[in-house]
Amino acid sequence: MTLTVPTRKPPTTAEPVFSVSGLWKVFGPKPERVPADPELSALAPAELRSRTGCTAAVRDVSFDVRKGEVFVVMGLSGSGKSTLVRCLTRLIEPTAGTIAIDGEDVRAMDRARLRELRRHRAAMVFQHFGLLPHRTVLDNVAYGLEIQGVGRSERRERAAEFVAKVGLAGMEKRRPGQLSGGQRQRVGLARALVVDPEVLLFDEPFSALDPLIRRDMQDEVARLHREEGRTMVFITHDLSEALKLGDRIALMRDGRVVQLGTPEEIVGAPADDYVREFVRDVPREQVLTCRTAMRPACAEDAAHGPALRPEATVAEAIEAVARAGAPARVMDQGRCLGVIDHDRLLGVVAGVTPEAPAGTAPAATAVGDAPAPAGTSTAPAMTAGDAPTPAAGTRTAGNAPAPAPAAESAPATRETAPGEHRPAPGGHRPAPGEHRPAPGERRPASEAPAGGTREAV
Ligand SMILES: Nc1ncnc2c1ncn2[C@@H]1O[C@H](COP(=O)(O)OP(=O)(O)OP(=O)(O)O)[C@@H](O)[C@H]1O
Ligand SMILES: [Mg+2]
Repeated sequence: MTLTVPTRKPPTTAEPVFSVSGLWKVFGPKPERVPADPELSALAPAELRSRTGCTAAVRDVSFDVRKGEVFVVMGLSGSGKSTLVRCLTRLIEPTAGTIAIDGEDVRAMDRARLRELRRHRAAMVFQHFGLLPHRTVLDNVAYGLEIQGVGRSERRERAAEFVAKVGLAGMEKRRPGQLSGGQRQRVGLARALVVDPEVLLFDEPFSALDPLIRRDMQDEVARLHREEGRTMVFITHDLSEALKLGDRIALMRDGRVVQLGTPEEIVGAPADDYVREFVRDVPREQVLTCRTAMRPACAEDAAHGPALRPEATVAEAIEAVARAGAPARVMDQGRCLGVIDHDRLLGVVAGVTPEAPAGTAPAATAVGDAPAPAGTSTAPAMTAGDAPTPAAGTRTAGNAPAPAPAAESAPATRETAPGEHRPAPGGHRPAPGEHRPAPGERRPASEAPAGGTREAV
């Protein structure tokens, strides 16, 4: 796996835009009884289904999305990602729990307020674009403004600005059918951006695109984030996309968030074997930072050697140490925080646990935990504040079990395409019996084309 993980700014501690607590979404008969009953709510998914006929798509999930961050929700097919993100604006009605946007209770909103939320504050970008086929690019982008009641000339002017912003200047008059997949998704992005929402919600927006166009679109999102500081919730089942874009990642399994943390925390200190398996093929040196990998400095270290920022990746440190032929110093505002030498660098690459650097806590779980039985969730949901502090090298090299495919057999009422399976994340070999998609295989387009758009606006 090759990754281009940008050097990150330290995680933002800004106030939350979305604040979610104890959220449940249960599909099936009398869904409210499941979160209310401690015995039912503790059942494994298959058992819950056979005893009650219910599917708990989201189970007791709590997190904050902070202003200006890209919050990624990741997990295998059927783990509850789409349900979770749709609950945020009540495109799907939650069963229990609280959701607030800027402190306002979303579950208490009346229809008018909800419409305002979806039109102005939280715009959604879908996997299948959701464009109106008979409208031009310009009119598709202007659609959200039209619904807001913005006058024709103003909305066309603003739409043109956003068409140019996503790199489609000159294509304003084309119809969606005359565009490539990547171009169509750019229109979808422009349409969401033009209403200047406080939060952009992306539900696997790039998974129907081929890899090169996909990378282009990821760069586009990263640029928007960098230049405009947009808050985004981004769903993906693709680990490299999550690591590239996410300031923080919530990893879901069977409706629960099994780990929530920065990419470095997820890769450096996986909370359980499921997470460990997810991140197994990640080049650790491209994700872990000098702050995590360094050892304490002794007096003679502090005076010489190349200087690196604490946020620099270990990959950058490898280059600096190789060039200088000496250990590097990790410097912050003129202070030497620690030192990275050959042993530390090798330890990170090999996944061998060095002693934790001064001031960091040990990893959240022990190495070599027993694999989780299929269909159960081993780790409790973590909230934003309690992600583990990373310690470099908690990986079990090559012996983690493949995660049980989390896709559940879809009940008849399911809104999204039933029976979908995804390849294991991060390019892993498929688990036994796992479906390997044929080249070019796509998910059925039933999820959210034009109908989905109307939901969103
Ligand atoms: N309307 C519905 N009725 C019953 N069950 C549903 C419904 N919608 C979703 N589910 C179930 O809820 C679970 C979570 O589904 P969801 O679509 O949120 O998963 P996902 O993580 O987005 O998967 P994918 O990666 O395939 O899009 C699945 O088991 C699914 O079968
Ligand atoms: Mg989904």
